[in-house]
Amino acid sequence: MRLTFLLQRFNPETDAHPHVEPYRLDIGRGLTVLDALLRIKQEQDGTLALRYSCRSAICGSCAMQINGAEKLACRTSVRKELERHGHIAVAPLPNFPVIKDLVVDMAAFWDKVRAVTPWLAVSVRATPGQEIRPLTLPRDRYQFHNVDACIMCGACVGACTSHEVSRQFLGPAALAKAERFLADPREPADAKRTRLRFLEQPHGIWDCTRCNLCVEVCPKDVQPMEAIIRLRRAAIEAGLTQSGGARHLTGFLALIRREGRLNEALMPLLVVGLHLRRLLHIAPLGMRMLLHGKVPSPWAPPIPGIAQVRAIFSALGRLTRIG
Ligand code: SF4
Ligand code: SF4
Ligand code: FES
Repeated sequence: MRLTFLLQRFNPETDAHPHVEPYRLDIGRGLTVLDALLRIKQEQDGTLALRYSCRSAICGSCAMQINGAEKLACRTSVRKELERHGHIAVAPLPNFPVIKDLVVDMAAFWDKVRAVTPWLAVSVRATPGQEIRPLTLPRDRYQFHNVDACIMCGACVGACTSHEVSRQFLGPAALAKAERFLADPREPADAKRTRLRFLEQPHGIWDCTRCNLCVEVCPKDVQPMEAIIRLRRAAIEAGLTQSGGARHLTGFLALIRREGRLNEALMPLLVVGLHLRRLLHIAPLGMRMLLHGKVPSPWAPPIPGIAQVRAIFSALGRLTRIG
């Protein structure tokens, strides 16, 4: 079968903008997108730039956008893509600067991974040269979920909606890596707290919009969003409740428990507190909501079924502290 591949090309030395170039290729059975790209490079256009190494979904270097989704080219079947989309369009990972064609600059990605201290941190009371003991069962009860399966491919960052609007967001891969070490029982409590204090800062755990795209695209089932939720839970359990995100969560829950519904008139006060400058910042939005009838009375009574809502909160017990 002869098939057209639509490849996004961009050479910063000669091109003002990225553009799409078609390549026709005879394909057989069992071909992956990476196989097809390598054949295009070898048989038709040696200038095509792409990154790969293991060809076995291990090294994480061939992540790119295939038919609009972030995937590893070496484990993406041409036939399946064709069946699902009727064509094969390949572009570099979004949210990364493009070096050339399908090769992106991962420098900021690695900076963020380094920033989360991707190793076991020691206690402030640790003695120099103190050794880290191996994990042993049943002494150590730990659950890394699957975060240690991450191959650092960057697909989750390419898909991340929060990263799309803020390149400063630490991002799903780095945060999942941080959770791996937070979950490690050998890391002392004071080191864990220091870790959480860093992660609750702006551009950290509270910047995630919970869009779930990182979970959908991850080729290793790391489920970064779930790791971020565990980090949030740990931060609140550690008493780190003053960041905007934490205040939003606890304020939201307090309102539901008290009134059985969200009260947009009170929510800003719970999130921002009596911080005049920040209140003034959101005042225009509040005014527009008021004019459109979107702000209920702050003195509105609870919903009729509030007793059942409170019963649910009681049944959920401590879980309801953090949602
Ligand atoms: S979490 Fe998944 S998608 Fe993200 S870098 Fe790791 S393996 Fe890749
Ligand atoms: S769930 Fe959060 S971290 Fe994952 S892609 Fe969405 S915004 Fe990004
Ligand atoms: S080439 Fe290594 S993951 Fe695809």
